[in-house]
Formats: sequence, C-alpha cells, structure tokens
Amino acid sequence: MICLKVVIKLGGSLITDKSKPYSFRKEVVIRIAKEIKRAIDEKIDLVVIHGGGSFGHVEAKRAIDIYGRISNETISPIAFSMQELNYMMTSILVSNRIKAVSFPPHSLCVNLCNIGERFSCDLKIVKTAIEKGSVPILFGDIVYGDNFCDPAIISGDDLALMIGSYINAERIIFFTDVDGVFLELGHPETILKEIRLNEIDSVIKKASIYNNVVDVTSGLLGKLKKTYQYLSTSSSIKEVWISNGLIEGNIYNLISGKTVNGTKIIP
Ligand SMILES: Nc1ncnc2c1ncn2[C@@H]1O[C@H](COP(=O)(O)OP(=O)(O)OP(=O)(O)O)[C@@H](O)[C@H]1O
Ligand SMILES: [Mg+2]
Repeated sequence: MICLKVVIKLGGSLITDKSKPYSFRKEVVIRIAKEIKRAIDEKIDLVVIHGGGSFGHVEAKRAIDIYGRISNETISPIAFSMQELNYMMTSILVSNRIKAVSFPPHSLCVNLCNIGERFSCDLKIVKTAIEKGSVPILFGDIVYGDNFCDPAIISGDDLALMIGSYINAERIIFFTDVDGVFLELGHPETILKEIRLNEIDSVIKKASIYNNVVDVTSGLLGKLKKTYQYLSTSSSIKEVWISNGLIEGNIYNLISGKTVNGTKIIP
C-alpha cells in the first residue's frame, strides 16, 4: 500500500462559529475525529493543524484594539485562548483513538521581523513525531519576536503549507465551512473547481473575497497568497484543496487520496 503524507488544516470557520466569541462546535469535531480515524487506519502519515476561529482571532483582535498592535503584553492571553481550543480538539482526537500529540507553535517558531514578517520554525520534532507513529497537532498561534522584533501571529494556513513542504507531503487540505473558492460566494455555480498556480493571481483579482468575520490573518485571501508562495517552491506538494468540512465524508475522502466537490489548486 502506498503511504500518503497529508497535512490537513481544520479551519476556525469549521470547528468554531466565527461570529460568536468562544463558540466551539463539539459535535462537528467529534464527527471529524471519526473520519480522520477511518482515514489514518489506511496507513496515512497525517499532520493536523487547526485555526483560531472565535478563540485566537477574537483575542488577537481585542489585543490590537487595546494596545494598537500585537505586543509582548498580548502574548499570554492570545496563547492561552489557543491552548484552550487546542485542548478541546486534542481531547476529542485522543478519545477517538487517534495518537494526537500537541506541539504549540509558540515553542517552535519565532518572528524574524528584520526580513519582513517571516517565521523561523524548528520542525524537526514534528517529523520525529510522525516517524514514531504520532499524529502531530499544531495551530495558528502567537509567536515571540526575535531580538527587538514584536511578536506576531502565525496562521494555521501558513503552518499547514510550511509543514507540508518540510515533510514532503503530497496533499495539503484546507477544510472550511464553504465548498471551495467562489467567484461570488453564495452563487454555487461560480465555484472554481481547479486553479493552476499561475492563475492564483488572477483569481485573487477576479473573485470577490471578503473577510466579514474576525480573521487577523486575512481569511481566504491569506490562504491563496500563502498557497502561491509555497506551491511555487515545494516539489512534493501535488495538490492543495479547499473543501467543506461540514459535509460528511469530505474529510475521510480527501485524506485518503480521493476527490470531492471542492477547489483543487495544482502546480
Ligand atoms: N469568494 C469566496 N469564496 C470562498 N470563501 C469565501 C469567499 N469570500 C469570503 N469567503 C470566506 O472565507 C472563509 C474561509 O476563510 P477563513 O480564513 O475565514 O476561515 P478559516 O481558515 O476556516 O478560519 P481560521 O482562520 O480561523 O482558521 C469562509 O468561511 C467564507 O465565508
Ligand atoms: Mg483564516
């Protein structure tokens, strides 16, 4: 059997209700855990990332409103809100017999602001965890600034792509609460089923992409820009998917190498 390497990012729009602070979708996550378990029983190396949803994004927005920026004063509340969400996520995965082990990104990454907002992450331990049969779980987080730099928010989208290229994953999958990328959200016929790397720029210009809920890492626009960045440099990543994790079966099917209704981005 071929062993696939897959990174999934369970978006905050899927695992929480982004319009209500601190609202966790427990029943949805229980169903997701069952789909993940079914897929990894088919010998798939998997890394799970989750987003901030109405936990981290809300705390980060609050910090920006109070202090005007992400400062050292804001690290503890933002990090804590994400660890609360991560604890709930990890508990559900573990109780569904998934060997999930959590790696908080604030202990792996720093913000190197002198070369733009770029992160340096020591991901060796994540690779080791996979080799030992664990399912590493990471999340969008706040990370310390190196030297004189301010801390910064690293998105789960960024981490999913970064880890995917580091471990040579074939597939990166973003699960959200919508079916994929639409030219016009709410108009199902405008879904973009396949986007080539060299078309991402024109999709960004053509599609009406909005960010009406709190998302300090630029929502879908950030996802598409990061996908462009990593897909241009990674030789292993064959497909980046954006799909609806609320539809039963999508998570199992995409992790196990099948296709579903959604948007596939290819090199
Ligand atoms: N043209 C569009 N096509 C598809 N989705 C869109 C479009 N415009 C806006 N969106 C929104 O993008 C959202 C997905 O991106 P977003 O970053 O907000 O979610 P997420 O990644 O699940 O959350 P988090 O950042 O908390 O992990 C969808 O919930 C959808 O409402
Ligand atoms: Mg987002």
